[in-house]
Amino acid sequence: MSSIKSAIPRHIAIIMDGNGRWARQRGRPRASGHQAGFRTTRDIVEACGRQQIEALTLFAFSSENWKRPQQEVGLLMDLFLRALKSEVSKLCENNVKIRFIGERGAFQPKLQLEMDNAETLTRDNDGLMLAIAVNYGGRWDIVNAARQLAFQVRDGELQPEDIDIDTFSRHVSLSEISEPDLFIRTGGEKRISNYLLWHLAYTELYFTDVLWPDFSEVELANALDFYAGRQRRFGRTGEQVIGGTG
Ligand code: IPE
Ligand code: IPE
Ligand code: MG
Repeated sequence: MSSIKSAIPRHIAIIMDGNGRWARQRGRPRASGHQAGFRTTRDIVEACGRQQIEALTLFAFSSENWKRPQQEVGLLMDLFLRALKSEVSKLCENNVKIRFIGERGAFQPKLQLEMDNAETLTRDNDGLMLAIAVNYGGRWDIVNAARQLAFQVRDGELQPEDIDIDTFSRHVSLSEISEPDLFIRTGGEKRISNYLLWHLAYTELYFTDVLWPDFSEVELANALDFYAGRQRRFGRTGEQVIGGTG
């Protein structure tokens, strides 16, 4: 194990999974799981702010989640709208900067308006950066970047041979912040489910069986302990990392 601990992650990305199973375990409708999950989200955002985490990216609704029963999709949209209305001013007071990533054009206009307002209101905050992935898909993000670069080539603004990893990175979502150091998925599944495919290339992956509504500050501390014990080598040898060479 490295003597150089990675300490605190700058950027955490979470797949908040398990709301439905949490509700089913209690014989309640899935809606109550989402409601409970929302309360966890609020607690974890606050905890990350207190821990001086720079950025937190949360997967709230994937581009595949439209396939769920219409009633559940509607319910998630209502919850989302209510959460925005009730939480944004408090988040703003707490110096949180809110960002949404994903294709928001698919949402109802009133929801889009609340998202725009939340971003505008918190634009100048410099505390925790909270990115919320809605109608987001990692493949969409990559394809979108490729399309933007293709337009630039078409318009004579870019030479194809100038497209490299840095250029590409500038066109995917969240290009203004460092890539996630720590990924957390609750709910027991060990998959990425089309989350930040580009960004997770070197992220430390933490999976827990705990269902999202049961996730807590103690569970977050467990994930942070896991992270602190990792040696991040980025392709180098462990000796190089310890010796600080390379
Ligand atoms: C995650 O919980 C919330 C969203 C995808 C919006 P799920 O609703 O996927 O919960 P499970 O996986 O069915 O338990
Ligand atoms: C991933 O969870 C998306 C979100 C948490 C928003 P899912 O529950 O949709 O993932 P799969 O379908 O089990 O892979
Ligand atoms: Mg799920």
